[in-house]
Amino acid sequence: MPTDEEILGRSGVDDLDAILSVTRADVDDAVHVVADNADAIFTWDYEKGARPQLNKLYEKAKHAQWNGETDLDWSIESDPEELARAMNGPRAEAFAHKGVDLSGTPVASWDDDTWTEFGMEVQKWSLSQFMHGEQGALLCTAKIVETVPWIDAKYYAATQVMDEARHVEVFAKYLDTKLNGHYPINAHLGLLLDDIINDARWDMTYLGMQVMVEGLALASFGMAMQVTQDPLLKQLLRYVMSDEARHVAFGVLSLKEFYEGLTDAEMLERQEFAFEAAVRMRDRLLQQEVWERMGVDPKVIIPRLRVGDRNQDPFQQLLFSKIVPNCKKLGLLDANDGWLRARFDTLGVSQFEDWADTSEEYLDLDLDAVSADRLDAAAG
Ligand SMILES: [Fe+2]
Ligand SMILES: [Fe+2]
Repeated sequence: MPTDEEILGRSGVDDLDAILSVTRADVDDAVHVVADNADAIFTWDYEKGARPQLNKLYEKAKHAQWNGETDLDWSIESDPEELARAMNGPRAEAFAHKGVDLSGTPVASWDDDTWTEFGMEVQKWSLSQFMHGEQGALLCTAKIVETVPWIDAKYYAATQVMDEARHVEVFAKYLDTKLNGHYPINAHLGLLLDDIINDARWDMTYLGMQVMVEGLALASFGMAMQVTQDPLLKQLLRYVMSDEARHVAFGVLSLKEFYEGLTDAEMLERQEFAFEAAVRMRDRLLQQEVWERMGVDPKVIIPRLRVGDRNQDPFQQLLFSKIVPNCKKLGLLDANDGWLRARFDTLGVSQFEDWADTSEEYLDLDLDAVSADRLDAAAG
C-alpha cells in the first residue's frame, strides 16, 4: 500500500512547514503551460441516448444556458468594505467560539478597520480561487470532449465547456468591477489542477475535476451564497451552483459504469488520487496568501487557528459534504478494504458518506429555482 510520503510528497498530512513550503515560482508569468498527455478520440457510434442519464443531463444543460451579461444585474452597487464590516462581529464570535487565542500575535492588536481589511482580502482571495478553479474546469471539460469515447458524454461535456466559460467570465467580472482585482492561483490548487490535466487516463479528469474539485466548489458556493449579503453575488452564485450540480452529477454518472469494471489495483490508483486531491484542497483552505498580504507570518498564525483537532472544524468538514457521498457512490470508499474511508477518517470527513449523492441531488439544485429568479429579474 502506498504511503502518504509517496502520495503527497510529505510524510505528515498536517505537517505545516511542508504545506507552507509549497509556493509557485511563476505567479508573474502571463501563461502557464501543462502537458495534457491525452489522445483525442473519434467515435463512429452516433446513437444519441445510448446512455440515457447522460442524454438527460445534456438535454437539461441545453435548456439551462444563461447569460452572465444579461441575466445578472451588474448595476447593483456593492460596497466590499461595508460587506466585510458586517462580517466582523460573526468572525470574532467564530474565533472566540473555537477558543482561538490570538495573544502574542500581530492579530491581537488589530483594530476594527484592520479586521475589515482582512475580511475584504478573504473575500477577494476566495473568489479568486473560485475563478482559477473555474478556468481549470474549462480546460478539463474541453479535454473531456476529446478524450471520452461516448457520444452522449461528448455532447454533454461540450455544454459544460460553455458553462465553465460563463463561470470564469462572471467571477472575473465580479472581481474586476466590484473588488478591484484578484489574487494569483493558490499553490496547492495549482498543483492539483496541473495533476488533473497532466494525467493521461480519461477518467482521472472526471474524478479530479467533476467529483473532487467541483464537489468542493458546490459545497463552498452553497455556503458563500448563504453568508454573503451582496445581492449580486448571491444571484451569481445561485446561477453558477445550478450548473455545478449538473457537472458533479455528470462525473458521478459517467464514472459509476466505468469503475464497476476496474480491478482492485486500478481502483487503488483512483483512491490515492481522490485522497491526494482532498488533501490539496484542504491545504489551500489555509489561505496562506491572505495572511502574507496582511503582514502576518502564516507559520505564526495558522497553528493558533488550529485549536484542538483541525479535523473537527465543522466549517471545514462541511466542504467535504458533497465529495464523500459521491466517492461512496463510485465504490471508492469501500474498495481495497475501505482504504479511502480510513484516509477520510484521518481527515475527519467520512461522516458524510450517507448524505445525498449529487447524481440525484442535482435535480433539486437545478433549473426551476433559477428560472424563477430569471423571471423575477425580467419582470422587475
Ligand atoms: Fe464551474
Ligand atoms: Fe463546473
